[in-house]
Amino acid sequence: MNKNGFYELIKNRRSIRAFDTERKVPENTIVKILEAGRLAPTASNRQPVKFHVVQERSMLRKLHNCYSKSWFSDAPSVFVLTGRREDAWVRTFDGYNSLEIDAAIMMDHMILAAESEGISTCWIIAFDPAVVKEVLELKADEIPLIMTPLGYFPDGYVKREMPERKSLKELVTYY
Ligand SMILES: Cc1cc2nc3c(=O)[nH]c(=O)nc-3n(C[C@H](O)[C@H](O)[C@H](O)COP(=O)(O)O)c2cc1C
Repeated sequence: MNKNGFYELIKNRRSIRAFDTERKVPENTIVKILEAGRLAPTASNRQPVKFHVVQERSMLRKLHNCYSKSWFSDAPSVFVLTGRREDAWVRTFDGYNSLEIDAAIMMDHMILAAESEGISTCWIIAFDPAVVKEVLELKADEIPLIMTPLGYFPDGYVKREMPERKSLKELVTYY
């Protein structure tokens, strides 16, 4: 990919909330996307995050109870990222724990990798964590952090424009 390809990828990625139930993501593509997450940087290289790949119909159906939007249950694959706070790096000055940052970087790598493979995704954190813990049979200290459906949008689906972003002027302070 050339330099512009990278920036185009970032511009073109949208959160997709419609999936073709019949069209599965090929297994080798799933593995390539997971690999992008595996290679992501984490604080002190602690890699405190686990990747759960949910693809069996019965499991997808159960997982739907944690986030009841219909498009969520239409996706053929869902990645759920979980982690234990004690596995993540902690800042000595104030006890700040990097678990969520590490998970977000791993997920962002996977979401951009998915985009480059033509696979649609949508970050989700508005799920019920208690349901996720039950469905995935997580231990008490394993925290559900982020998830995304993965799949193809249906024929005729119109990808929307990028929602307005703040300008650099609003975001940046130079010193
Ligand atoms: C940390 C995070 C959590 C999000 N949680 C949800 C969610 O629970 N449900 C949802 O529909 N979208 C969720 N989104 C998607 C955002 O709404 C979306 O990224 C934002 O509106 C910008 O749109 P875009 O992704 O198409 O650029 C989340 C995004 C991020 C980064």
